[in-house]
Amino acid sequence: MNLYPLLRDQLFRLDAEAVHHLALHCLKSPVAPALCSIITDKPRCQSIKLWDLQFSNPIGLAAGFDKNAEAIPAWQSMRFGFVEVGTVTPKPQVGNPRPRVRRFPQHQALVNSMGFPNDGLELIARRLQHYRRLPAARRIPVGVNIGKAKQTSLEAAHQDYCQCLRGLHAFADYFVVNISSPNTPNLRQLQNESELRRLLLPIRKEMDALNSGTTDKKQLLFKIAPDLDEKQIEKVAQLGLETGMDGIVATNTTLDHSPLQLDQPLPGGLSGHPLREKSTAIIRLLSSHLGGRIPIIGCGGVFTSDDVKEKMDAGATLVQIYTSFVYLGPRSVNLLLP
Ligand SMILES: Cc1cc2nc3c(=O)[nH]c(=O)nc-3n(C[C@H](O)[C@H](O)[C@H](O)COP(=O)(O)O)c2cc1C
Repeated sequence: MNLYPLLRDQLFRLDAEAVHHLALHCLKSPVAPALCSIITDKPRCQSIKLWDLQFSNPIGLAAGFDKNAEAIPAWQSMRFGFVEVGTVTPKPQVGNPRPRVRRFPQHQALVNSMGFPNDGLELIARRLQHYRRLPAARRIPVGVNIGKAKQTSLEAAHQDYCQCLRGLHAFADYFVVNISSPNTPNLRQLQNESELRRLLLPIRKEMDALNSGTTDKKQLLFKIAPDLDEKQIEKVAQLGLETGMDGIVATNTTLDHSPLQLDQPLPGGLSGHPLREKSTAIIRLLSSHLGGRIPIIGCGGVFTSDDVKEKMDAGATLVQIYTSFVYLGPRSVNLLLP
C-alpha cells in the first residue's frame, strides 16, 4: 500500500525547501537504504547497457535533488537505475536568496531559482569516493552534473568545469556540463554556437587527458534547456557530435511559466507536468539530428509509465525524474515501471 499521498498532504503544508532538507536528512541516515528497499519492489524490466555501464532500469534521479551526493545508497534502494548528483561547483556556494522553490500542486509542477547551492567539489568528491569503494556489482551508475561558479565570467567558465572534472573524475561514471540552468546569470548564453564550441573543446580535451591514464573511461555529456528553437537544437546536436560529446541530457527547466497563468512573474525555471510535451518535442528533434550516434537522457515532466514510453519513443535511451519524485514519493520508480 502506498501511504505517501497522506504524508505528502502534511509535508505540502511546510516550506518546500525545508521539506527537501528534511527528506535528505532522513535519506542519508544509515538505516534509510534498508527501509527504502522494504517499501519498494525490484522492477521487472530488462537492464540496459550503455557506454560500458549496466543500468538495471532506465529511470534515474535528475540533477539537483541530491546536489551534495549525500544519499546515493538510499536512491539505489528506491530502485533508481542511476543517480545524477550536483550541480557541483569548484568551491561551496550558498545559491540565491530564499524562498527559491515553490510548489504548484494543481499543475504537478515546481518553480525553482536555486542558483547551484552546493558543498563544493572537495567535500562532494569525498562522499563519492566513499560510495565508490563498494564493488562495482553493488553500485549503480553515478553521474555528476558540473557547473561554473556564479562569479566566474563566461570567458573563464571552461576553467571551472575542468577543475570539477579533475577533482571528481575518479569517483563517478559520467559527467554532465550544465549550461542550461536559468538561475546562474548568463549561463544559458553558453548554448550559443560559438560559445558552446569554445566551451566544450577544452573540456573534452581535459576529459581525454584524464581518461588516457586509465581503463576506467568516463563519459562526457552536456545538458540543454527546453527553450531553444529548432535552429538552435540542430546546432547543439551538430556541436555535440563535432566536439566528441558522449551524450546529451534534455532537458533542464523552462523559463516559460505561461501554463501556470501567474498574476506576478516569478524568478526561476518551471519543472514537472507542464514541461513534459516541450521536453519530449526537444528530444524528438534532437534525436532526428543525432541519428543514434550519441544517446539522449530524457528529462522533463515524467509522471507515468506512458510518459517514460513517450520519452523513449522520442529517442531517449534513459529517463530522469525530479519533480514527480516530490509528488509520487519513494515508490516513484515502481509507479513508473509497473
Ligand atoms: C528544485 C530543483 C533544483 C534543480 N537543480 C538542478 C541542478 O542543480 N542542476 C541541473 O542540471 N538541474 C537541476 N534541476 C533540473 C532537473 O534536473 C530537471 O532537469 C528538471 O526539473 C526537469 O525534470 P522534472 O520535470 O522531472 O523535474 C533542478 C530542478 C528542481 C525542481
